[in-house]
Amino acid sequence: MLDKHEREINYLRLSITGRCNLDCIYCKRESGKSPDLTMEEIGRLVQALAALGVNKIRLTGGEPLMRKDVVEIVRVCAAAPGIIDLAMTTNAILMHKYAAALKEAGLNRVNISLNTLIPETFKQMCRYGRLDEVLAGLKAAEEAGFPVKINVVLMRGINDAEIGDFIRMAKERPVEVRFIEYMPMGRRYDKSKMIATEEVLRLFPELLPLENENKSSVARLYRGEGYKGLVGFISPVSHAFCHLCNRLRVTHDAKLRMCLGDDGETDLRPALAGSDEELKNFFAQALAAKPKQGFCSDFETRRGMGNIGG
Ligand code: 5AD
Repeated sequence: MLDKHEREINYLRLSITGRCNLDCIYCKRESGKSPDLTMEEIGRLVQALAALGVNKIRLTGGEPLMRKDVVEIVRVCAAAPGIIDLAMTTNAILMHKYAAALKEAGLNRVNISLNTLIPETFKQMCRYGRLDEVLAGLKAAEEAGFPVKINVVLMRGINDAEIGDFIRMAKERPVEVRFIEYMPMGRRYDKSKMIATEEVLRLFPELLPLENENKSSVARLYRGEGYKGLVGFISPVSHAFCHLCNRLRVTHDAKLRMCLGDDGETDLRPALAGSDEELKNFFAQALAAKPKQGFCSDFETRRGMGNIGG
């Protein structure tokens, strides 16, 4: 369906848990006590949104693989009428356990958060977990047949010395490595650590822009001569892409959030207590009222990404 700014809203980012097995410095997740959406609530809201034209879903968290019923959630989302693309953003620590079952249940592809290839830097950025667990998860995802994208949040003085290593990864393997500008999510943002896309492009002139096939994709894609994979840049800080926005978010604690950069949220639980028709009407009204632009020059969100949904 169209919002009042004539944007087609067809993409749901659904956070299925506030829990995470890492504690990344850019994420500023707070461990709240609010209960996660139930399996039944997820089924109902996905059905209602699919009926309104949502055809693409990304499962996020927290860490989505922390949920014991994650395979069942994938199955329910994949089975909703009209869903043509079902993806997940994960840190892959638990992927070795689930990759084959997720594939069989209908998950189409995965984005893996991997910000460094150095074990000590991994500890510094993510505090818990180990780099080798993530690399094993990446391998498991590839072996299960998932197309994989790697998310790298660049932070000055922390992982910027590895940009060349990640670009080499895209050269040698059929993966898309996406450099993401560090965003002011959650309080205490250190702007001096943000590295703008243009800065990286200046350092690697061999990267040549591609025409992006997926018009609503927020990544700008590049590739060098003979690359097996791609390099993407997601630049929400230096280039707001609100005019392309086709998404809505549901947080793990049942809040509907129409914009990542705008703290406006509506509690879904009263609507979930009503009939299917009431739930659909609730979504239709909320979608129509999506903010035009949440990413202004001084945006800073109250909740960190781990509480909103990555
Ligand atoms: N800035 C940019 N990206 C972020 N993510 C989380 N917090 C931030 C932030 N402050 C992204 C990471 C991760 C996904 C779940 O969310 O890319 O892969």
